[in-house]
Amino acid sequence: MDKYNTRLQELKESNNYRQLPDKETLNLIDLCSNDYLGINTNTHLRDEFLREFNMDYAFSSTSSRLLSKSLEQHVLLEKTIAESYNTEAALLFNSGYHANVGILSALPDSKDLIIADKLIHASVIDGATLSSADFMRYKHLNNEHLELLLEKHRKNYEKVFIVSESIFSMDGDVANIRELIELKNKYNCYLYIDEAHALGVCGKQGLGCVEALDCMAEVDFIVGTMGKAMASVGAFVACQQVFVDYLINHSRAFIFSTALPPINAAWSTFIFQKMKDMNAQRKRLQKLSSDFTAMLNVKSDSHIIPFVIGANAEAIAASQLLKQNGFNVLPIRYPTVPKNTARLRFSLSANMKIENLKAIQSILTTETPSYE
Ligand SMILES: Cc1ncc(COP(=O)(O)O)c(C=O)c1O
Repeated sequence: MDKYNTRLQELKESNNYRQLPDKETLNLIDLCSNDYLGINTNTHLRDEFLREFNMDYAFSSTSSRLLSKSLEQHVLLEKTIAESYNTEAALLFNSGYHANVGILSALPDSKDLIIADKLIHASVIDGATLSSADFMRYKHLNNEHLELLLEKHRKNYEKVFIVSESIFSMDGDVANIRELIELKNKYNCYLYIDEAHALGVCGKQGLGCVEALDCMAEVDFIVGTMGKAMASVGAFVACQQVFVDYLINHSRAFIFSTALPPINAAWSTFIFQKMKDMNAQRKRLQKLSSDFTAMLNVKSDSHIIPFVIGANAEAIAASQLLKQNGFNVLPIRYPTVPKNTARLRFSLSANMKIENLKAIQSILTTETPSYE
């Protein structure tokens, strides 16, 4: 036990020790949630869904989809997603983590290369680590660096998978997907975009940045997570049928895990359709985000707004201060973000009140002037 106690003690001493939030947190105004459209607290939507949905055998699928019948709720959700993105097919995974790990460990093999943005989500890194493909990373949002790497290495590989998030989860900045498409075409690669934080938020129907840029057909793998703006659980990849068939045969995260409960698949289908009409919420979220970004005098291109502080201890102190004032904003520290860039990460929701955001600004700028 000494080994583990010692390591935990080291984490405490470097202010990197993580703990689950206490019960009190539930009473705070939450700026950590990914409920970007306010769907999770929308009781009308929940009631409407429960009135419509047949509750038989709803709470468990009881096996992997390959073992028992693939339930109609799963199939309908995949059909809805594929039709919306205008792709040949879609495949569900149990979470965004499962999707990235399950796809990237299965499709690229030892003759291939995965090349991802330096700040890509941990699930992509874990998928690439499990894969037998080589793995490289280009500087964050730096497509020139990506091109340098492609120029040098493309010829050594059979297939190359370029992987990026659309809206980045920790900084709220946005990839230049059009440039990524140009590079994928120029160097004959696949393009894989994780829309975790853009689904629901961007595009006329909330399908993500690929919809907003009208480039759905040019992205080979569109990954979306349903536990964030959709207030559900699970994830999907929209892509060609051949990849779905291959994943059903090779993706261990898909094959060896109990499928999503039918009630969640049905809720996701219901919300996916509702989300398309939520332009008022998207507009409000955009306005709140640009106002709050200006108020804090920070940089963000989205509803994820980082307030970089630097040292872990100071980020923790700022988070405590906000907690005392009724706000739940967690300090994000290394290794989730690079060393010495500890930050408060605000993630906004369309149903937030501007008064609360003004109160936060005033606390951060008047009570802790050294963080300005
Ligand atoms: C970019 C990105 N991809 C994937 C995931 C994982 O999604 P899930 O929470 O559904 O496992 C996250 C979660 O934070 C994320 O930010």
